[in-house]
Amino acid sequence: MSFTLVSGGTVVSAVGRRLADVLIDGETIAAILEPGRAAALGVVPERTIDAAGKYVVPGGVDVHTHMALEVGGTVSSDDFESGTTAAAWGGVTTIVDFVTQTQGRDVRDTLAARHAEAAGECAIDYGFHQVLGGVDGAALEAMDHLVEHEGITSFKMFMAYPGVVYSDDGQILQAMQRASRSGAMVMMHAENGIAIDALVAQSLARGETDPMYHSLTRPPELEAEATYRAIQLSKVAGDVPLYIVHMSASEALEQVAAAQHAGLNVFAETCPQYLFLSLEEQLMQSGFEGSKWVCSTPLRSQHDHHQSDLWRGLRMNELAVVSTDHCPFCMKDQKELGMGDFSAIPNGIGGVEHRMELIYQGVVAGEITLERWVETCSTTPARMFGLDTKGVIEPGADADILVWDPNAKTKIGVNDKHHMNMDYSAYEGFEIDGAVDTVLSRGTVVVENNTFTGRKGHGKYIKRGLSTYLH
Ligand code: URP
Ligand code: ZN
Ligand code: ZN
Repeated sequence: MSFTLVSGGTVVSAVGRRLADVLIDGETIAAILEPGRAAALGVVPERTIDAAGKYVVPGGVDVHTHMALEVGGTVSSDDFESGTTAAAWGGVTTIVDFVTQTQGRDVRDTLAARHAEAAGECAIDYGFHQVLGGVDGAALEAMDHLVEHEGITSFKMFMAYPGVVYSDDGQILQAMQRASRSGAMVMMHAENGIAIDALVAQSLARGETDPMYHSLTRPPELEAEATYRAIQLSKVAGDVPLYIVHMSASEALEQVAAAQHAGLNVFAETCPQYLFLSLEEQLMQSGFEGSKWVCSTPLRSQHDHHQSDLWRGLRMNELAVVSTDHCPFCMKDQKELGMGDFSAIPNGIGGVEHRMELIYQGVVAGEITLERWVETCSTTPARMFGLDTKGVIEPGADADILVWDPNAKTKIGVNDKHHMNMDYSAYEGFEIDGAVDTVLSRGTVVVENNTFTGRKGHGKYIKRGLSTYLH
């Protein structure tokens, strides 16, 4: 047996905190012990990690990332190696990325191709959701196979992007009906893409080409309308579990809260960009700068109350999860594709490295508790997506651990802390009152002393079970 002891820290879970030592046997947590108890039991660890004065929390679980995603004639700039390495730098020990199927393509072929891209490349563990971008009989059949045999228990659909990955209401309903038979989760990109496309065409015809029009042509009402419609369809499909991704607008959150109040299986996530960034402060920056923050759903106006409502939603569990929707692009040759036409700017923001840091700053600011940080960034995402051995520090769980130093500082920026493959940082200049200290992935130290000590290929594919959040 090869024991590692994380000693003297404050172990924080979703429900509380206590001074304790964490005993790791190989890749697994063996015991949570009173401080000093391991020695009394005669355990001689091969390695001791001193966590005195620090928080010991479950490694971050980011259930929404897009490594090497093809978008609008380019590919998101982190591949599985660089993206999972950056994730580790940020205290994340599991990601769930996406396999994309489009009209006429075989779902199983898309999965095989995505496995080939990721295998042997990842520094931390990973799973997949399946995007259904072309629902037909074969795709519906494939859903059951993925749930039963491939460890893919969640299916993302798009009410946006007509002609690309868009599904109409009939396709969505059929996929939901199928999912409700197997217990799978349907994840929804909830924006009314048909109406948005009309607004985009009208805006461009008026000569409005700057990045800020990306947000102005995707108003909160069209996020709320799609959210409402997705909820009604999920109800008709037998109250299939529905998870609304990247929620940005108060009006959409109201729909989720109402559905939850009515007892429906409706959940939602938000992302750091919607909690910290805005239309005025970022998207409206002069020239083409705003393109750095073009993503969908879009950044919202600071003159409304989206950010405060989202923080409240996180406190109230109307928003159960914080993910990043990490979809990075460089300015050079990528965001630049949309110069003179905001609708050609590749949609996405990179942030997989900074979610634990930014949401911890929400703890410092009094928006959420330390326990809620752990819950929304690790424990609930794991339970929500059937990652049974992740998201907790408990005997039998994978030894995925983040040692967090509340007395250190982090400065985010391309010349400061920045390991993603991007030529800018969406959070340039942000200062965090705390820092990633040490990160363990299945018992292996992957970050310590401000050094990445992991390796590509350490991360393995995790077959996920059904959501345990409902049980
Ligand atoms: O702008 C975004 N969110 N890009 C990634 C794809 C998606 O819709 O999640
Ligand atoms: Zn989306
Ligand atoms: Zn996404």
